[in-house]
Amino acid sequence: MKVIGFNGSPREKGNTEFLVETALEQLRKLGFETELIRLGDKKIEQCSGCYSCVKTKECSINDDFPQIFQKMIEADGIILGSPVYHASITPNLKAVLDRAGFLGRWVVNDMKAEDSTYQWKGTAFSGKVVAPITVARRAGQTFAFAQLLLWATVNDTIVVGSNYWNVGVAGKGGILDADQDAEGIGVITHMADNMAHVLKQLKK
Ligand SMILES: Cc1cc2nc3c(=O)[nH]c(=O)nc-3n(C[C@H](O)[C@H](O)[C@H](O)COP(=O)(O)O)c2cc1C
Repeated sequence: MKVIGFNGSPREKGNTEFLVETALEQLRKLGFETELIRLGDKKIEQCSGCYSCVKTKECSINDDFPQIFQKMIEADGIILGSPVYHASITPNLKAVLDRAGFLGRWVVNDMKAEDSTYQWKGTAFSGKVVAPITVARRAGQTFAFAQLLLWATVNDTIVVGSNYWNVGVAGKGGILDADQDAEGIGVITHMADNMAHVLKQLKK
């Protein structure tokens, strides 16, 4: 089974990446294949709102998104990691989630135009196990965390929690000090244990 983890920061090897990697490392110890996806080195445009995926079942924008979408489709678990930027997730991760969420809906559904009634058959992410991780210097984690939870819960996924919210406190003045956040590391490691447990039960 495979779990992918997004580093939604434009910064490679920053605080978000440290905490996402903390989760992935624990999952590797528990026998999972993992892959870190850095959005900082990808070209991902925002959703253009063209609605062409409703009919074509693919995204009309030619950039790095299709390969990321494919990795999301193939994964059993997805960790969504973002630094907090003005109490929000980053535009990079938001762009991925907007496009993946919209396309992922239409690849398994058709628009019911006549009476405007949607009869959802699920999404491309149905049954996948998802967990958010956010990291901030001081404040705004809960709003960003909620953005990720809202994406997960509208996309028919199974969300795993931990013994606290999966948030890190790090990055004053941009420093890389997530490794000093012992509580955050413990919470995120426990989240990885929970994700492993749920995935193993689901795949029995
Ligand atoms: C544009 C920008 C906006 C930020 N906004 C917030 C914020 O709203 N609240 C906060 O506590 N920290 C904020 N920070 C600090 C980052 O969340 C923090 O440094 C984080 O550890 C960076 O993660 P990274 O190393 O993965 O990039 C902001 C940083 C940047 C660059």
